[in-house]
Amino acid sequence: MKITYYGHNTLVLEIATIRVLIDPFISGNPLTKDTLKIDDFKVDYILLTHAHQDHTLDAEAIAKNNNATIVSNYEIAMYYQEKGITVHPMNHGGNWKFDFGNVKYVNAIHTSSFPDGSNGGQPGGFVIQTIDHKNIYIAGDTALTMDMKLIPLTTRLDIAVLPIGDNFTMGIDDAVIASDFLECDTILGVHYDTFGYIEIDHQEAKEKFKNKNLTLLPIGHSIEL
Ligand code: NI
Ligand code: MN
Repeated sequence: MKITYYGHNTLVLEIATIRVLIDPFISGNPLTKDTLKIDDFKVDYILLTHAHQDHTLDAEAIAKNNNATIVSNYEIAMYYQEKGITVHPMNHGGNWKFDFGNVKYVNAIHTSSFPDGSNGGQPGGFVIQTIDHKNIYIAGDTALTMDMKLIPLTTRLDIAVLPIGDNFTMGIDDAVIASDFLECDTILGVHYDTFGYIEIDHQEAKEKFKNKNLTLLPIGHSIEL
């Protein structure tokens, strides 16, 4: 699996020949709006953790460009189905085997309304067991929660994608504890530096993770598992 970071919580997972986009926020991100074009995104699926604009802004356009399937909680799926997009609704605790792997929608502590006030259900994260035998947890926006301890009971994670920017989500200190709860020492940090509330000191963040491996990717860069 190859993971490419496009700022904030936006990632593209390349799993065999299948391309899975997470939480597209490109045209409104001050760090990407002038350099990345949403028409350049070629994807098969779009996974949305919750309805907030900084996770869903470009989902409709990219889904329509690619005839991609949106996977999210029931309320978010219905919101996009009404716009004519193919969707796959899930809810917390549920698994589904997609052609790229098994996806479980798991708990997050956050909120989830759409910018227009529509009901975005309850926020979540995704645990994906890919067909190329890599296990990834994408936390979405969340506080540190004891529910994270449930994940290693069923899944030996290869990587956890955790928000570290604080203010709207957990910050670095809680993310370090989350990595303990998840029993995962390979962390990709997301949801930082996009706007003033969530700017972080990269060096300090890496030092706090001590002997664990915190990766902070420059925008457009990838890691391969
Ligand atoms: Ni949010
Ligand atoms: Mn957010």
